[in-house]
Amino acid sequence: MKILVTGGAGFIGSHTVVALQQNGFETVIVDNLSNAQDTVIQALEKIVKKKLTFHQGDCNDAAFLSEVFKQHTIEGVIHFAAYKAVGESVKSPLKYYQNNLNSLMTLLQQMEASQTRNLVFSSSCTVYGQPDQLPVTEDSPIKLATSPYGNTKQVCEEIISDCIAAHMPIKALVLRYFNPIGAHASALIGELPIGVPNNLIPYVTQTAAGIRKELSIFGDDYETPDGTCIRDYIHVMDLAQAHVKALQFLQARSVASFYDTVNIGTGEGKSVMEVVKAFIKTTQVALHYTIAERRAGDIEQIYANADKAKRLLGWEAKHSLEEALGDAWRWQQQLEKKKS
Ligand code: UD1
Repeated sequence: MKILVTGGAGFIGSHTVVALQQNGFETVIVDNLSNAQDTVIQALEKIVKKKLTFHQGDCNDAAFLSEVFKQHTIEGVIHFAAYKAVGESVKSPLKYYQNNLNSLMTLLQQMEASQTRNLVFSSSCTVYGQPDQLPVTEDSPIKLATSPYGNTKQVCEEIISDCIAAHMPIKALVLRYFNPIGAHASALIGELPIGVPNNLIPYVTQTAAGIRKELSIFGDDYETPDGTCIRDYIHVMDLAQAHVKALQFLQARSVASFYDTVNIGTGEGKSVMEVVKAFIKTTQVALHYTIAERRAGDIEQIYANADKAKRLLGWEAKHSLEEALGDAWRWQQQLEKKKS
């Protein structure tokens, strides 16, 4: 089965290409490299030990996508390509709406034109906002989005479900990711934030590597056991494996159209302080940190009920937080070695 992976040079996309290749899928990577580097493709080729098909281009470009669908017999699509920085989306909402919504719609048109049936879409736990009940299930209410980024994920989910309700012959699984962290065990691919990282783990590893002076822990006065925010951190290779299972599930379903949403998390909530302590214990590296003001827009706590992923896809997270932190640290060290 040949799979088009949009955003395949990105953090989750690149790890998913590895998992697909190792599970007998062929891949066609599309990426405009706006937030990724082409060296990722070479690193992927080293990991999977073969030449990979890569087309540099933009999913908003219908002519480009059409050419890709003409060149390859695509049987499934995983759509990762999107902007993902919460803060930037607040400052530049049009950039986010234009890119994230338009690229999905262009892709759906091309899928329809080429009769491509299977779609896995990258969504986020951000669609739940601050949930009233924890852990969140797929039936938990969708709250008003707290950022344009979050809103694009909600609207993209609606676009797909509306198309399917209108009998577009597509089978789609929307995967709602919790917080992806870690890196491939080879340390050849990992997260590559541009500039100062917004996310916790790259900030932690860059601080441990001496690039940043200290980590600010945003708030210790939340209504949680240690006062810091709680998230569900999932190893990116577990997340990658969930895409393999999702495609196998869709492939096996002999129906004309199908739509469902699935949480992809570990089911365990960890506080920022627990993560920091686990990092220090696992890596034995000193990490300077300080308690800072709460970050605007942060929700207090969220973690997944991941039962549906197990029931529907036969998937569950296998890696521990410690393994993920160790892999993220090895990746950071590899980056530092390359610099020197
Ligand atoms: C956010 C989005 C998520 C998106 C992800 C990717 C929401 C609710 N979540 O996740 O959908 O996929 O970004 O960009 O919109 N922290 C610190 N110090 C730091 C950095 C982070 O204390 O320097 C804390 C945060 O306050 C938070 C936790 O670490 O409690 C995780 O933060 P982060 O990695 O940025 O992810 P989210 O905000 O959970």
